[in-house]
Amino acid sequence: MWHDQFPLRPGLIHLNHAGISPWPRCAHDAVVGFAAQNLGQGSLGYPQWVQTETHLREALARLINAGSADDIALVKSTSEALSFVAYGYPWRPGDNVVHPRHEFPSNRIVWESLAHRGVEARAVDTRQAVDAEQALLEACDGDTRILAVSAVQYADGFRMDLPRLAEACRRRQILLCVDAIQQLGALPLDVRDIGVDFLAADGHKWLLGPEGLGVFYCRPELRERLELTQFGWHMVEDMGDFDGVDWRPAATARRFECGSPNMTAVHALAASVDLILEVGPDSISEYVSRNIKYLIEKTKEIDGAFLVTRTEPGRLAGIVTFGIHGVDAPCLYRRLMAAEVLCAQRAGGVRLSPHFYTPLDAMDEAMERVARLCRDCRAA
Ligand SMILES: Cc1ncc(COP(=O)(O)O)c(C=O)c1O
Repeated sequence: MWHDQFPLRPGLIHLNHAGISPWPRCAHDAVVGFAAQNLGQGSLGYPQWVQTETHLREALARLINAGSADDIALVKSTSEALSFVAYGYPWRPGDNVVHPRHEFPSNRIVWESLAHRGVEARAVDTRQAVDAEQALLEACDGDTRILAVSAVQYADGFRMDLPRLAEACRRRQILLCVDAIQQLGALPLDVRDIGVDFLAADGHKWLLGPEGLGVFYCRPELRERLELTQFGWHMVEDMGDFDGVDWRPAATARRFECGSPNMTAVHALAASVDLILEVGPDSISEYVSRNIKYLIEKTKEIDGAFLVTRTEPGRLAGIVTFGIHGVDAPCLYRRLMAAEVLCAQRAGGVRLSPHFYTPLDAMDEAMERVARLCRDCRAA
């Protein structure tokens, strides 16, 4: 039924939801409708736009099981949300933050940038570690204030054991900051059940939204501990009171939203997240898991293939990265893209990331192209 939502053109196989996802039809229609409104009547419907914005916060709160939509801020990117934490936290010189070494740059650079404040960013090689969580926790000490991890590593799809990290962080009074962009929309994530302190994710991957709009969750008890770094009309308690002289930050997470919202993206993401909630995070997760296992089996059929992705129980998400002995990964990647298999080149291999709606026969076809193009790369 929801296959109709993804009318990709024939022949094109989209296996890059860990990169930038295609929009579902509902997001496309929402933006077309929004554009038509702007063309024909300007902002006459502004109150409804604000309702859509409110609805999006509620839908995102439902998706991550936040206590309330008041705990959700709409942000322009994962990087922005992580910067709110990094530059809002009341660091003292000598403090440190621990993170996996091979994080996506958004979740590494922001911590490294704190060096001028006397904050050390400790990078831990979780790829080489037999027990990634233990390696991270061993790097923490009495001066560790934040443990920053991606729920799922972008390059090889390694899924962190968030409950285990959260439990250890709680015991040691370390805050857990999760970059959830590679998990939200693919696998369920319950911030309250796990005990996540901060969560950041843009909407353009598994959430099937456009670039430029994402979610920032801050555990309500911590909201006032983060010093604000952006200011404007939209983040104050009395948002409509333009003539007021006094102001204070909104009590809710709106305090992190300084100015006018990205309404075009709000319309698109609201439609996409509604679709995800309608299909159901648990069903989506089952399909994603089925698809990734299917692709892994298919990969094994290719001569010389090896997996970069770790397949131990509980570690798979929506990403499989593989290499082929004797085949140059950039060559294979370029040829796959030219053959309209959307993928990425990561961790020395080719990364494939199907979503819940990806048909099995599309994955069969993609892997046939992989096998053929490997032969071409070897011959080149
Ligand atoms: C783990 C991770 N974090 C963040 C991002 C993107 O960051 P932003 O939303 O700031 O563009 C990506 C994109 O590839 C990613 O894989």
